[in-house]
Amino acid sequence: MKRTDVLDRLVPRVVKASASAEQFAPSNIALCKYWGKRDRELNLPINASLSVSLDYLGSHTRLIPVDGQRDEVWLNGQQLQPGARFSQKVSAFIDLFRRDQDLYFRVETRNNIPTAAGLASSASGFAALTLALNDALALDLPPEQLSILARMGSGSACRSLFTGFVQWNMGLREDGMDSHGIPLARTWPGFCIGLVEIDAAEKATDSRSGMQRTVETAHLYQSWPLQAAADLSKLQQAIEARDFELLGQTAEQNALSMHATMIASWPPLLYWQPESVAAMQKVWQLRAEGMPVYFTMDAGPNLKLLFQREDRDALLKHFPGLETVEPFGP
Ligand code: DP6
Repeated sequence: MKRTDVLDRLVPRVVKASASAEQFAPSNIALCKYWGKRDRELNLPINASLSVSLDYLGSHTRLIPVDGQRDEVWLNGQQLQPGARFSQKVSAFIDLFRRDQDLYFRVETRNNIPTAAGLASSASGFAALTLALNDALALDLPPEQLSILARMGSGSACRSLFTGFVQWNMGLREDGMDSHGIPLARTWPGFCIGLVEIDAAEKATDSRSGMQRTVETAHLYQSWPLQAAADLSKLQQAIEARDFELLGQTAEQNALSMHATMIASWPPLLYWQPESVAAMQKVWQLRAEGMPVYFTMDAGPNLKLLFQREDRDALLKHFPGLETVEPFGP
């Protein structure tokens, strides 16, 4: 199935940039990870995933129509070279909407989280860009269709269209029309996420090539879809019952299982730094002392801590300066 066949169903062939637009989308942290694609052109996943959106942390994207012959991409106040990786990804995504028309934009993205440090800024970036294109081109598409479009920019972006807990079903259709984010109607006041920044530098291997390498070279990857399916149902159960230990255990084991498949790839993919391991050990130590704190990690060295509001002050003593988010309020 080609991207254009799917696009024909979502975006009119002739679009017009009617106005400037500005939109925000939150970053999201997966508790059950998306790792591996069954279709690289449409970004269709091998497994379903489940995330929580990070409230005010994410991307603001502004689109201004320009007269030139190419997009101008600005990231955090700096204009990028047309050849820069982010710039190319953004322009390739806008190509999906403009097809062959001369329709270019100045794209200004501001992230209030470190870019490309495993803190899922590509998810919020593509989600905000999709929302802004929906406005600038007056498409007026419903959220599920916007989620499908965002998915084609970056898989995890399909979950950043929504707040709170979001499930991304893998879907069964070849055209991916059933593979998009769905917000779960469950909240969890007092549920906290803490961002432990080990290294904010751009990583050498991005998630896209990392997951492809894992699928192609790690025998261990065969067990991943089973692990993910079992974890997804445990997480649904934990969210339903507000069972924090079940949620934390499941999310931590899911993240470490994903990292095990990365490490078993060739050439090996190890995103951890010595400080990442030290932070994991600190979490395990705190747990041994009775504090219910867990972690998850994406394709980068940083940890995201999962804990409850009543443990925040005690936790801050061990992780000074920890940026914490309460996606559902106190
Ligand atoms: C480890 O969504 O960045 O963060 O679809 O190729 O753009 P592409 O990949 P991306 O991968 C995210 C992987 C992850 C896990 C997750 O967010 O579910």
